[in-house]
Amino acid sequence: MENHKATEPIVFVIFGASGDLTSRKLVPAVYNLYLDKFVGVNFSLIGVDRRSHPEDEYRGLLRKGVDEFSRRGKTQDAEWDVFSKRLSFMDGDFSDPNTYKQLGDRIAAIKQQLNTEVHTIFYFATPPSVVEMLVHGLGAAGLTKDEKRSRVVIEKPFGRDLESAQELDIKLLTELKESQIYRIDHYLGKETVQNIMAFRFGNSLMEPLWNRRYVDHVQITVAEEVGVEHRGGYYDKSGALRDMIQNHLMQILCYIAMEAPVAFEADEIRNKKVDVLRAIRPIEAEQVNQFAVRGQYDSGWIRGEQVPSYRKEPSVNPDSGTETFAAVKLLIDNWRWEGVPFYLRSGKRMPARVSEVVMQFRPVPHLSFPSSAIPDFTPNRLVLRIQPNEGIFIRIQVKQPGATFRLRGADMHFLYKETFKVAEPEAYETLLLDIAHGDATQFMRADQVEAAWKVVMPIINAWEGSTPIEFPNYPSGSWGPDAAVTLLARDGRNWWVPTAIQDHT
Ligand code: NDP
Ligand code: BG6
Repeated sequence: MENHKATEPIVFVIFGASGDLTSRKLVPAVYNLYLDKFVGVNFSLIGVDRRSHPEDEYRGLLRKGVDEFSRRGKTQDAEWDVFSKRLSFMDGDFSDPNTYKQLGDRIAAIKQQLNTEVHTIFYFATPPSVVEMLVHGLGAAGLTKDEKRSRVVIEKPFGRDLESAQELDIKLLTELKESQIYRIDHYLGKETVQNIMAFRFGNSLMEPLWNRRYVDHVQITVAEEVGVEHRGGYYDKSGALRDMIQNHLMQILCYIAMEAPVAFEADEIRNKKVDVLRAIRPIEAEQVNQFAVRGQYDSGWIRGEQVPSYRKEPSVNPDSGTETFAAVKLLIDNWRWEGVPFYLRSGKRMPARVSEVVMQFRPVPHLSFPSSAIPDFTPNRLVLRIQPNEGIFIRIQVKQPGATFRLRGADMHFLYKETFKVAEPEAYETLLLDIAHGDATQFMRADQVEAAWKVVMPIINAWEGSTPIEFPNYPSGSWGPDAAVTLLARDGRNWWVPTAIQDHT
């Protein structure tokens, strides 16, 4: 969060080094930090994985990821050649103490070569099931002993449920100090998510309207075109509720619903977010069907290409009951939000990759205009576009030019690409730099993770207790199962088609 300069020497160790996260997000982020000179020349990256790869093949794999996913596009030979000299790979069983011994020897050799102390960042780009093993292995080998210079980064979902998250916290604290633990949720590093605070608390315009008196309801959509592809091993044990709703969407919800922090400080912001999670009305076991909807994609069409059903993806159980879509209605019992529903939905194989928050305002108290003047009247709507076409839109009513008095909707907008000519950094660039500088503002505290689990536990319990006989229940390329439409229709509402992909009227 602070304005960081180039870092001190760093050894960045990624466990799960041939996984999707590493090639899609982590290495592109590190490469961009390198090109932007945020990581100095004294930096090394060691990939650790249970599968073995020759060094050259591994570098090639990472380069492919950067070419495909970096915001800068394809790598240039000259720059990549210098950068890739800092990448190395080792295979090893995460349950074998020898893996950590070998890793320790490599780190010691780097230190010796540089003739200085280094910061070590151990990044677990793995499923939650191996986190405890990794922390124990590192601790037993003495690799996390230096509490000032060694940090561990743990991906979401943190644990599998409330109980396992609490147990994991206890175990982590036997090996590490809390200040060494970074529970990452990369949505907190997205410019557009951070901007929610700037927009809310840097402008006096919105705050008087940001409450139950003026807001009818809020929708948060995080939709993806991609399916699970080769991530079945992780995803089939996770599902949309654990993978997206419990963390990314809940974080967005916290920023939308929180009270103004007294100061822009890590603990103060985290306290205000936990207050939101604590105020969410618990969903009673017998009410889960009225508050939550699950779905799983069938085969279908995405961008003119036929794609397989979830159950046919590699490493997925052919009878899987894992949800690839989840929608939830939440109520926040506090003075600001009493009676305002927050609808959250996230799914894979949707028609587009698009994330948006829609704040739907109430209609004006009295419409003075004749019905002929307002054939298409819609109350005000604020849209925060998280991605793509990042920006903010406010739907207002204006008089359509002409002799007759007629209202129509129009948008006031702010678009990042129009206002700022430079490309914004990817979330992982911002967050990795924060970790390197020991700044925990944008990371999750244990109580926040637990509060978020508490919100979804009734849904997890209900879903795990009943096999979804209706799966698969939405075709790839659609907005999810019909039940998601019913969730809002029951309240007399409907999901907005995200503005980033529509020619809105
Ligand atoms: P993948 O399945 O693609 O990668 C997981 C990696 O962990 C693989 O290298 C896998 O090895 C390894 N692994 C799994 N189980 C074990 C084990 N028991 N012992 C040793 N290694 C193991 O998943 P992702 O990379 O997509 O996800 C990893 C984490 O990152 C998840 O927590 C996810 O929520 C998070 N994340 C992912 C994002 C993404 O865009 N992919 C974005 C943000 C967060 P092998 O291939 O041999 O199974
Ligand atoms: C990850 C999930 O946390 O976020 C993935 O594990 C998902 O399933 C990804 O694809 C989405 O991130 P982004 O930044 O592309 O919206």
